Amino acid sequence: MNDKLKESGSAPPAWYHSGLAHVWLPYAQMKTMRPPLAVARTEGCRIVLADGRALIDGIASWWTACHGYNHQHIRAAVERQLATMPHVMFGGLVHEQALTLARRLTALLPEDLDRVFFCESGSVAVEIALKMAVQYWRNRGVRNRNKFVAFRGGYHGDTAAAMAVSDPDIGLHDMFRGHLLEHFIFDLPRDDESAARLQAGLERHAEQLAAIIVEPLAQGAGGMRFHAADALRRLRALADRYELLLIFDEIFTGFGRTGAMFACEAAGVAPDIITLSKALTGGTLPLAAAVARRKVFEVFWSDDPKKALMHGPTYMGNALACAAANASLDLFAREPRLQQVQTISEQMARELAAARGLPGVRDIRVRGAIGVVELERIEDLDSLRARFIAEGVFIRPFGNVVYLTPSFTISAEELTALTGAIRRVLASGT
Ligand SMILES: Cc1ncc(COP(=O)(O)O)c(C=O)c1O
Repeated sequence: MNDKLKESGSAPPAWYHSGLAHVWLPYAQMKTMRPPLAVARTEGCRIVLADGRALIDGIASWWTACHGYNHQHIRAAVERQLATMPHVMFGGLVHEQALTLARRLTALLPEDLDRVFFCESGSVAVEIALKMAVQYWRNRGVRNRNKFVAFRGGYHGDTAAAMAVSDPDIGLHDMFRGHLLEHFIFDLPRDDESAARLQAGLERHAEQLAAIIVEPLAQGAGGMRFHAADALRRLRALADRYELLLIFDEIFTGFGRTGAMFACEAAGVAPDIITLSKALTGGTLPLAAAVARRKVFEVFWSDDPKKALMHGPTYMGNALACAAANASLDLFAREPRLQQVQTISEQMARELAAARGLPGVRDIRVRGAIGVVELERIEDLDSLRARFIAEGVFIRPFGNVVYLTPSFTISAEELTALTGAIRRVLASGT
């Protein structure tokens, strides 16, 4: 255990010290990191620590807990499912929760996005979408279309193929450069100039390309950057012109985060494949999906066994996770979630505006339930994070951004506590 971990202030529970030496934490230099916080439980929009402190959560557990924590309706659905059947393999077997979820998701998605392939994490959903795209061409007898166009500022996950279509400069996988498949990374076509550069690239490389992959409307882990629907319309037009598949990675943006149920719906652009995860289960259980349009699925539908999609995660279509996702969709249908997103959006825009002009603040932007304060730089992320915790909030800046992605059920007072903490902490310098 590193020295800072040993220095942990209040006495944590026994499980903390006995177990901490045996876990490997994400995105962290374990030797020098500050001690992680011991969490006892969650409640609404709060994370209750083992030492009794309750932090107002500004991040909703990496953007998943859209209904707040421990929602009674999801809990009851998972408990019922647990008593009946927690899991059964999806090879040769199907069950009510997964099939109901597939039907409901496809009813919500635009156009003929109507075949759902389930898996357990966002990165794997992206891997599957990429595999679908490459095999789409192979099944059509075209062997060399196996490259992708992706975008600066994009992030699609931490597995190898997902890393290879993420922006290599965002710092998450720098050391794997040269070991990953190389694809083509362009600026998003935000204006005529960048659109012309992209088109020239497509013109040059179209014969090697399987698909374009993009996070629609909001790029998350690559810097919380937004773009207009027009960029997506340009992508759709270019994909059609060069006969490429268009993949929307809505793992961050799906389920209301940008204001509409899906960003593709808000943009009025339908992709050929869409990936979903994060808020799919309301932040309770791991589940993800790659959903394909009919024209993609039809290329796999054949008498030839070699044309089948050879993928099958062990926990695919997990019944508990699907029950949670069905319950989460019930909540979207019966509670005013998208209205809440709109109210959160307006409040964040009002309250974060007060941080404009604070030292080092470069930009403030809000879209849906995503509020961002971009700084010139953050010298010491760890200590900035600790200052938020001292304020009684859980806010986790990265790169040069401090951001909020709260649960949609957060109260106005809790949200004010979050925006107030950002203003106070930034006012005292980063
Ligand atoms: C847009 C996007 N795609 C893919 C992923 C990877 O998802 P997971 O962490 O579940 O593998 C993320 C995670 O942040 C994401 O934001």
